[in-house]
Amino acid sequence: MSMPTTELLSHDRKDAEWWRSSVIYQIYPRSFADGNGDGMGDLPGVTGRLKSLADLGVDALWFSPFFTSPQKDAGYDVADYKNIDSRFGTLADFDSLVAKAKTLGLRIIVDLVPNHSSDQHVWFQAALKAAPGSKERARYIFRDGKGANGELPPNNWESVFGGSTWTRITEADGTLGQWYLHIFDTSQPDFNWQNEEVRAEFDSVLRFWLDRGAAGFRIDVAHGMIKADGLPDIIQNSTTMSGQDSPDAVKTEETQEELIRRLQIENPFWGQEGVHEINRRFRSILDEYDDRVMCGEAWVHPLSRMASYVKPGEYHQTFNFGYLETPWNKEKLQDVVTESLNAFGAVGAPSTWVLSNHDVIRHATRMGYDQVPKQGDGIGPKYAQPDEAKGQRRARAASAFMLGLPGGAYIYQGEELGLPEHTTLEDKYREDPTFFRTQGAIKGRDGARVPLPWSGKTTPFGFSTGKPWLPISQSWEELTVENELVDPKSSLQMYRNALELRKEFLVGAGGINWLESTQHGSKRDELLSYSRGTMTVVMNLSDSPQKCEAVGKLVIVSSGTVEARDGKKVIPPRSTGWFLA
Ligand code: GLC
Repeated sequence: MSMPTTELLSHDRKDAEWWRSSVIYQIYPRSFADGNGDGMGDLPGVTGRLKSLADLGVDALWFSPFFTSPQKDAGYDVADYKNIDSRFGTLADFDSLVAKAKTLGLRIIVDLVPNHSSDQHVWFQAALKAAPGSKERARYIFRDGKGANGELPPNNWESVFGGSTWTRITEADGTLGQWYLHIFDTSQPDFNWQNEEVRAEFDSVLRFWLDRGAAGFRIDVAHGMIKADGLPDIIQNSTTMSGQDSPDAVKTEETQEELIRRLQIENPFWGQEGVHEINRRFRSILDEYDDRVMCGEAWVHPLSRMASYVKPGEYHQTFNFGYLETPWNKEKLQDVVTESLNAFGAVGAPSTWVLSNHDVIRHATRMGYDQVPKQGDGIGPKYAQPDEAKGQRRARAASAFMLGLPGGAYIYQGEELGLPEHTTLEDKYREDPTFFRTQGAIKGRDGARVPLPWSGKTTPFGFSTGKPWLPISQSWEELTVENELVDPKSSLQMYRNALELRKEFLVGAGGINWLESTQHGSKRDELLSYSRGTMTVVMNLSDSPQKCEAVGKLVIVSSGTVEARDGKKVIPPRSTGWFLA
């Protein structure tokens, strides 16, 4: 049985640093709001809508990349780290955004992509022109090929987006030459982080954005920057960002050290020891400033291993992907929460909680499946379609459960509206490199990236005066911000209420107490409940109403109506209630 009480101050304390209990909202700049009518979102579009985010009650905004980029991977292919792509605006637009956000009490977090650049970056272009062994080549990972004429790639690594991680170049003299490494698309060459010049360059990139008023960074592919010495063959290729097809596969009898060592040998480009040195270098730069934070995208399992990224002197937070990947199951949910609080608490860091982002199937859709497609796969028109009503209800219940937990929470734009994934997007619209590199066998992530519906009755619902880069379904008419603001039962209202109550009653309320009668092992297999301070949160995971002993006044119900019966409260199916004593 899990521990009944989790009293870990690292997650929450009244006087704690802001990020320990913050709610951070992810903006996907292409799809938030279009200020200039070209069909793609931009920074002025966001600045014009900042008030709605302040009203939602979030503390900070993390922006997916807006830097100069050929957009081969939607901006995660950066050509100039110190400039804004003209599709999204200018540096002056960034400055206005930061200034306006400040007046509303919102912080701006920038997405740093240090593992790789775009092939259009000046350094990579110089490397292509320079000779093998040159200082220009040494900024990336170039190797001679195998085989009599170097015609075979240097090793067997496969790209996360499909195909080999190696591409052969034509040398300046026109002959076929060396190969370069790219864990992702061909257009995303990996930097050589063993090279001090690369490290020093990123020091200056960090300072550039911190000096401009960024509150910190979300660090892309934080677990991939160092590759095992000698670039040995991989034991089992996987197209997931963790290198493991099943997160459960790591639950073994080994000690933590043995487990980590084994995984580092099995996955020579994920989670190598050397990344911690980079984490510390980044952190020391942030610590030159007041109050700045960094959150690592480190898809490593298990959670105790992820916690090593938030040890003192490293990241402030990491995304809790173990939580995101937890299926709709009471025991697994209780276990992952307890495990997270313990693992992160043991190193003095807060846990984070996240259910959706731009790389995964939106949780309102994911939860409409009993068998969820693998991370990154996406859904296409010919796939089994989700049970939408079930997904919507479960998603709201899951969000209400999440927002009461101690630690930091992440919201992906649109989840507050209950937006589903676009599961029937036609191939002609797809932009995800995964789709192209697998010749369409994997649909990819575009379905999670559809622009937001703001107002009005007809698509594109105020997102743009032009044609949106991905189509917005007319069926989203009820899901606009405008519509949900006037509907007291909407998902948006639930998020707003939850964030307000969280600020008032939960920040500083400490750890959680699992309600004994809903523990696993108890007969109440369908209810999971915890209390924090004066708030009790009860989630009913089942398909039928369930009685519970929660006391206090009902302040939130994610779906349906809570009734009183025999002196007890009846929680509706697939719903979460908050009760204030
Ligand atoms: C991260 C980003 C993802 C991107 C990849 C390569 O996982 O979240 O969108 O494709 O890194 O940069």
